[in-house]
Amino acid sequence: MLMKEKEIVIRYAQCAYDELPEADRRLVDAAREATRNSLATYSGFHVGAAILMANGEIVSGANQENAAYPSGTCAERTACFYASARYPGVAMLKIAVAAWTRDHACPEATWEECFQALPISPCGACRQALLEYERMYGPIEVLLYGREGVYIFPSVGALLPFSFTEF
Ligand code: THU
Repeated sequence: MLMKEKEIVIRYAQCAYDELPEADRRLVDAAREATRNSLATYSGFHVGAAILMANGEIVSGANQENAAYPSGTCAERTACFYASARYPGVAMLKIAVAAWTRDHACPEATWEECFQALPISPCGACRQALLEYERMYGPIEVLLYGREGVYIFPSVGALLPFSFTEF
């Protein structure tokens, strides 16, 4: 058999926070603000996510940890489950994610300085959860905030090639 090598290319954009259009900056700001509602008792890692809905509303969520570790939930799933429960049938257009921890910062660091220098990226489970809404309503743009740059992916699908689709 002749083995064929194939390749998947993921395209994304990178820019500085200041270069984002104002509406995107507002969404990133909402994700950063949402980190204030994180319950990061065990990891000390505060994550916020904000989703722009087709009705213009912004729905945000933060990670919620639990003493029984696997029972906790990431910011992205908190946000998309809340968004769908609050506005069923309304498309999700964009999601922004931001995270900070004091772990790598000096004690005098400001809140702003504690944000990750490079963006964090949603875990596999969150990608799968978000993908469900993307399939229902169309592409969800993903904005990942880092102090040194924002990564912009055109869709959740771009972050999850060969995703599980149907049974
Ligand atoms: N976490 C998120 O909320 N989103 C991510 O994209 C990555 C990880 C949370 C889960 C846990 O509460 C903490 O960050 C440390 O992993």
